[in-house]
Amino acid sequence: MRKPFIAGNWKMNTNQRGALALASGLKDRLAGVDTVDVAVCPPFVYLAAVGAALSSSNIALGAQNLYHERNGAFTGEISGDMLKDVGCSYVILGHSERRHILGETDDLINKKVRAAIDGGLLPIFCVGELLEEREAGRTHDVVSEQVKNGLEGIDAERALAVTVAYEPVWAIGTGKTATAEQAQEVHAMIRALLGELFGADVAQQMRIQYGGSAKPNNTAELMANPDVDGLLVGGASLKVEDFAAMVQTVA
Ligand code: 13P
Repeated sequence: MRKPFIAGNWKMNTNQRGALALASGLKDRLAGVDTVDVAVCPPFVYLAAVGAALSSSNIALGAQNLYHERNGAFTGEISGDMLKDVGCSYVILGHSERRHILGETDDLINKKVRAAIDGGLLPIFCVGELLEEREAGRTHDVVSEQVKNGLEGIDAERALAVTVAYEPVWAIGTGKTATAEQAQEVHAMIRALLGELFGADVAQQMRIQYGGSAKPNNTAELMANPDVDGLLVGGASLKVEDFAAMVQTVA
C-alpha cells in the first residue's frame, strides 16, 4: 500500500562533471523502474543541471535544505520557491548534520517543514538519536520529541506530503548500520506516534525511510521490515552501481 521510496543524499559531494555522470548513469540503469519512487538530492549548485540530465526519467529531484521565507534579504539562503523553480519535488529537512553541525533547532526545522509543504514541496523530514542518547535508553523520547516538534501545527491532510526519515546519528557514515530489528522497532514507534498526531489512516499512508550506512548488502534485510518503507542513502548514493543495485533490490 505504501510505495517504497529510495532517495540519495549526495551531501556536500561531487563536482559538476561527477554530478552529471552520476545522474546520467542512474537514468540509464533505472529506466523502466516504476514500482519504487526514486529521488536524488544533489548540492544546490548542481540542481538545475542534474534536473536537466534527469528529464524524462523516473528519477525525481530533491534539495538538501531550504530557508522558510519566500524571498528577501536572507543572504546565502535558498527558498522553496527557488527549489520548485529548478524542478525539485522533494527537500531533505532536519538532517542530523544540520541539527548537530549547523545548529538547527526543532523550531527552525518546523518552520522549514511547514514552508516546504505550503510551497508544494515534499519534505523528507529526518529524525534520529545520538549514540549517547541510545545508550542512555532515551531513543524513544528523543525521536518522539523531534517528530512532535518538527511536525507541530501541521494538519493530517498536509502531513501526507511528509516522508519521515529515521536516521540514528551513530549509524550515519560510520559503516555501523542499525540492525533490522532496531530499525523496525523505532519505525513502529514513529508510526504509532504519527497515528496519535494525524489518525491511524494517515499514519498508514505516510512513508518512513531508514538512513544510516544503508548499502546494497543490507537493503533487502532492512526493507523486509513492515514499517521500513524506503531508504535515505548517503555514501552509497554516490556510486551508480551501488545506488542502482539498491533500487533494483527493492523493485
Ligand atoms: P550514509 O548512508 O553515508 O551513512 O548517510 C546516511 C545519511 O545521512 C543520509 O541522509
